[in-house]
Amino acid sequence: MAWTKEMPANPVVAVAGATGAVGQEFLRVLHDVDFPAAEVRALASARSAGKTVPFEGCGQVPAGELTVQEMTPEAFEGVDIALFSAGAGVSKAMREAVTAAGAVMIDNSSAFRMDEDVPLVVPEVNPQDVAWHSGVIANPNCSTIQMVVALKPLYDLSPIKRVVVSTYQAASGAGAPAMAELFDQTRDYLNGTPDEELTIEAFAHRIAFNTIPHIDVFMDDGSTKEEWKMVVETKKIMNDPAIEVAATCVRVPVLRC
Ligand SMILES: NC(=O)c1ccc[n+]([C@@H]2O[C@H](COP(=O)([O-])OP(=O)(O)OC[C@H]3O[C@@H](n4cnc5c(N)ncnc54)[C@H](OP(=O)(O)O)[C@@H]3O)[C@@H](O)[C@H]2O)c1
Repeated sequence: MAWTKEMPANPVVAVAGATGAVGQEFLRVLHDVDFPAAEVRALASARSAGKTVPFEGCGQVPAGELTVQEMTPEAFEGVDIALFSAGAGVSKAMREAVTAAGAVMIDNSSAFRMDEDVPLVVPEVNPQDVAWHSGVIANPNCSTIQMVVALKPLYDLSPIKRVVVSTYQAASGAGAPAMAELFDQTRDYLNGTPDEELTIEAFAHRIAFNTIPHIDVFMDDGSTKEEWKMVVETKKIMNDPAIEVAATCVRVPVLRC
């Protein structure tokens, strides 16, 4: 069903996953573009409820700290835009409450990217697809986004048949705990801790002083889901199912891209 609710000039914005690596970036960008928000609501799990996160302010929201609220269905009452980055399971669980509250959900997870009723939008490539959303707009995997921004002007000159791409991705792509693991592991490794005593939780192998060609889970064909995402998301964003993509995605021991 088409979305008919008009967006107010000063929307109430919820950042769902505000304590995470992506949530922190959402807050920074809201400030950088001085988004005309009437209110910015920081939401996370019950673990973070009551904590504060720094916010430099935007629109009608002054600089200071935001008190984190637990993300419950009720937390979206009065919200106009909900920026989601709390994992696919949380996005799926909250979708109905968010749209029922009249908010547009802009989802950073993989939960709805390939759903037929959800546009997958990169503003520099297919901004027109926002027009047919019905309450949820997805944004792609970070590797796909960067690639299609570079491909689009070439594609406009001459349709692209095939793309061969390799990515070298920082620990930040796996979230805040993964960044902490790289940091701690590097310190412990340099202090002489043997391999078998290092804490390895966020990645499949030691990431300190290593590269791992394994991001997300393995698919039946031996590729990884990260690589698969680059293949299928590119076709959807470029609106061209004929583009062939061969992707190799590698995690590297860098904190942030
Ligand atoms: N990092 C990237 O570059 C990147 C890029 C594209 C997409 N994504 C996607 O964005 C999502 C978040 O990634 P991230 O890197 O920001 O992860 P993260 O650093 O681990 O942060 C996760 C956030 O989600 C919240 N959360 C976790 N479980 C929750 C629950 N049950 N209810 C409510 N909130 C919950 C956490 O709150 P607490 O602090 O309270 O636990 C935290 O705010 C993932 O779907 C990821 O695939 C990440």
